[in-house]
Amino acid sequence: MYNLKDRKVLVTGASRGLGAEIARAFAAEGCDLAITYLGSKDKAEAVAAEIRSSTGRQVVILQAELSLVPECERIVEEAVKGLGGLDIVVHNAGNTTVVPFGDIDALSETDWDYTWNMLVKSNVFLFRAARPHFKANPDGGVFLMQSSIAGLLQNGSSMAYSVCRAAGLHLTRCLAETQGPDIRVNAICPGLVDTERTAVFTEEQRQGFKEMAKLKRITTPEEIAMTFVFAAKNSGMTGERIRVDSGMVVV
Ligand SMILES: NC(=O)c1ccc[n+]([C@@H]2O[C@H](COP(=O)([O-])OP(=O)(O)OC[C@H]3O[C@@H](n4cnc5c(N)ncnc54)[C@H](OP(=O)(O)O)[C@@H]3O)[C@@H](O)[C@H]2O)c1
Repeated sequence: MYNLKDRKVLVTGASRGLGAEIARAFAAEGCDLAITYLGSKDKAEAVAAEIRSSTGRQVVILQAELSLVPECERIVEEAVKGLGGLDIVVHNAGNTTVVPFGDIDALSETDWDYTWNMLVKSNVFLFRAARPHFKANPDGGVFLMQSSIAGLLQNGSSMAYSVCRAAGLHLTRCLAETQGPDIRVNAICPGLVDTERTAVFTEEQRQGFKEMAKLKRITTPEEIAMTFVFAAKNSGMTGERIRVDSGMVVV
């Protein structure tokens, strides 16, 4: 088992939603954190203050636009500087434009490029920047990618989102295949989870999602966060994609 006590963890997109919950879960395991946000400085500061007071752990706050490669490189450097090293990266930040899935005209070239940069390319460059620090660690390092059941299906908030999530899952396996034995790479695939981002759905749509789930419920942020912790601790797993969706899709 990879002991999480006193590990140094970078969690991207942790100003709210799943990232904030993942940050709380790693701090509860005794980790120090660097958390990133895009525009919600106040929210990131509130998450950091709450974690510091509930766990006593160190929390460094970083701002970054992670669709840009130099920003990916900069935040790894700043996380290492702020924490004095880096053991685990959780790349959770992401966003999407909801459009009818089959409407091939709905997204512009810029939308496609942005989605690719944000959901695929950023993983490559965060990984590359973190790799020497993982290699320097006698226990090795862990790279965990946020994904989605949209990457397992021909469905989701947009075709670009689904395609790029699928590419991210392939990247997980490519990295796991080639970057061991001292770095583990895994992806987590949530279904619909209650966060600010999913508050856009109507009650009727939410009922539809519940009906679709074999467990007749909506997955909670805590259930996603505990899966990231499990994946970080489990030294026997790499190149895996873990679906946590209350059975929305059993594949
Ligand atoms: N919620 C779900 O049902 C669900 C399901 C499957 C997968 N996911 C994935 O899980 C992740 C988190 O989802 P969530 O629901 O917690 O989302 P959220 O509430 O919208 O939070 C997104 C986080 O990412 C940051 N962010 C957004 N765009 C960014 C960019 N271009 N550069 C850097 N940071 C950026 C945001 O920062 P600011 O707060 O500063 O804007 C925020 O911290 C996303 O990757 C999402 O695709 C979510």
